[in-house]
Amino acid sequence: MGNLIGKVALITGSGDGMGRAHAVLMASRGADIVVNDIRRDAAEETARMVKALGRKAHVVACDVADTAAVRALAAEGIGTMGKVDILVNNAGFGQRAQLPEIVEKDFDRMMAVHVKGSFFLTQALIPAMKERRYGKIINISSIWGMTGAPVASHYCAAKAALLGFTKAWAKELAPWNIHVNAVAPGGVRSGGPIKLDNPEILRAKEEKVPLKRYCEPVEISYAVAYLASPEADFVTGQVISPNGGDTIVGF
Ligand SMILES: NC(=O)c1ccc[n+]([C@@H]2O[C@H](COP(=O)([O-])OP(=O)(O)OC[C@H]3O[C@@H](n4cnc5c(N)ncnc54)[C@H](O)[C@@H]3O)[C@@H](O)[C@H]2O)c1
Repeated sequence: MGNLIGKVALITGSGDGMGRAHAVLMASRGADIVVNDIRRDAAEETARMVKALGRKAHVVACDVADTAAVRALAAEGIGTMGKVDILVNNAGFGQRAQLPEIVEKDFDRMMAVHVKGSFFLTQALIPAMKERRYGKIINISSIWGMTGAPVASHYCAAKAALLGFTKAWAKELAPWNIHVNAVAPGGVRSGGPIKLDNPEILRAKEEKVPLKRYCEPVEISYAVAYLASPEADFVTGQVISPNGGDTIVGF
């Protein structure tokens, strides 16, 4: 399946977990990748994986919470690859803490990485996308941005903010043929749950999911790659939540 041939994707936090899976899947479908991560060594490993698939990769290591750095990331990505067609705002982290325990520093960091980082990187890439009248922006939210959770209200709020951006940007940018959608994963066997839960707790949580499991990172990448592809040219302002049936809503 080569439906991303000739496209360039910039994926934040693609040194590990889902971001790396997105990079590898999109490269396997023909895209060149700008690999960003706060950890340079991790980003370089992803770049090696992309190059092994015969695609170009360029590493820009930076903290997405640093506005000057994300502006430089956008400029370097476009400068090196000639353009950026696809932006995946994926960099993020989880923290389990209840309201009384969340101190101002934690709150600020949560908002800075997920909300401010996604906002200013998108803002920096928009002028070139408008000029080319082409763009696919995919914001990585979370099932918890829709359902809430009793152990991470700052995380839930940050992920809900990404859904707000998605809907507003979809309307604002549609005149330039720029599509904006969100993927809101349920439980994924990547960084967050593996780092924060011991195996028994994780298994007990998986048992509560209708499909009785969390997914592998690439199962989220399939949704991201679809939204990045021409197959999703009539899709904007939407949220796809691969979650094993954990949340089923409707009319
Ligand atoms: N794992 C889950 O179950 C789950 C569920 C829903 C949503 N998410 C979201 O998916 C995204 C990816 O999560 P993951 O589980 O793959 O995590 P992960 O920890 O496996 O990978 C995240 C990557 O982002 C990088 N990163 C973190 N902060 C950064 C920053 N400030 N600037 C640049 N890079 C940074 C990390 O170094 C790491 O390589 C996150 O936004 C997360 O909130 C995860």
